Amino acid sequence: MKHVAVLTSGGDAPGMNAAIRSVIRCGVAKGWIMYGIQNGYAGLIAGKIKEMGTRDVGGIIQKGGTILGSARCEEFKTNEGRLKGIRTLRRMGIDALVVIGGNGSQTGSYHLHRLGYPVVGVASTIDNDLYGSEMTIGVDTALNIALEAIDRLKTTASSHQRAFLIEVMGRDCGYLALMSGIAGGAEYTLIPEIESDPEEVAEKLRLAYEHGKSHAIIVVAEGAKYNAESLIKFFEKHQDRLGFKIRATILGHVQRGGDPGAYDRLLASRLGNGAVEAVDREEYGVLVGINKSEITTIPLKDVASKKKEIPIEMMKLARILD
Ligand code: F6P
Repeated sequence: MKHVAVLTSGGDAPGMNAAIRSVIRCGVAKGWIMYGIQNGYAGLIAGKIKEMGTRDVGGIIQKGGTILGSARCEEFKTNEGRLKGIRTLRRMGIDALVVIGGNGSQTGSYHLHRLGYPVVGVASTIDNDLYGSEMTIGVDTALNIALEAIDRLKTTASSHQRAFLIEVMGRDCGYLALMSGIAGGAEYTLIPEIESDPEEVAEKLRLAYEHGKSHAIIVVAEGAKYNAESLIKFFEKHQDRLGFKIRATILGHVQRGGDPGAYDRLLASRLGNGAVEAVDREEYGVLVGINKSEITTIPLKDVASKKKEIPIEMMKLARILD
């Protein structure tokens, strides 16, 4: 019989609760003793660990956020912090750890593995920037939130013949911006992966205005060279030639809040089960993700060292459709 703990780490993502529920219930179904660790790696270092059963994860599949709490933990970036965590786990007789989280969190789990502790990662971040999984928990819900915002902004933009800049999250990755730009019918999308010139965006706006469009939408990734703040300054100076009046909306953490949609609940349930199966096989030091609709594992070493590229064909499509 195994003793297995689970934690959520880094930025929360809609669907994390469904993943916790799946890990706990799939583990219990194998006859294992399961534990939840509060507040990510910070809670691991502080020993905030309690046994969890099937009922402890009842009624959470539809809830956003994470019932375990999450944190970004500086101390865990040091070997000393990591070894403290490992000592706590060993003292409690815990055989393996499941880490639900994104890039920083899976770098942390790679280091636990490197230091000899059995760990399995579950791909979860709204940014979809994690190497080794085509999709990660929370992306679909965050995208839908961005789309709802774009659709709403279009209504008010049309009433006033305005252009709206919408800044979306994603850290250094343009995935969320690119996909919400395409699905939201944006006039232009600025992402970190492609060099953009404010002059080019201004020209796009001028043409849209001259063609009699009632509104224009520009999606900006927070990590793009020109973010919403710098672009609005530029456009305000050049408003006469653009035609449209300009407003900016920064979606920020709104995208991470709220309840997960069907896709994220299902993905999280599958990945949680995939993690328990990996522990059962004693296949440690891997990230459980999804590729071509199959649940897959990939070494955490690769996850921690390689960069995920955003799909080139989608970048081309955005330029054709905008
Ligand atoms: O990684 C998820 C994410 O929401 C990024 O898109 C964003 O840049 C960052 O986290 C914000 O971090 P915090 O919640 O710590 O402000």
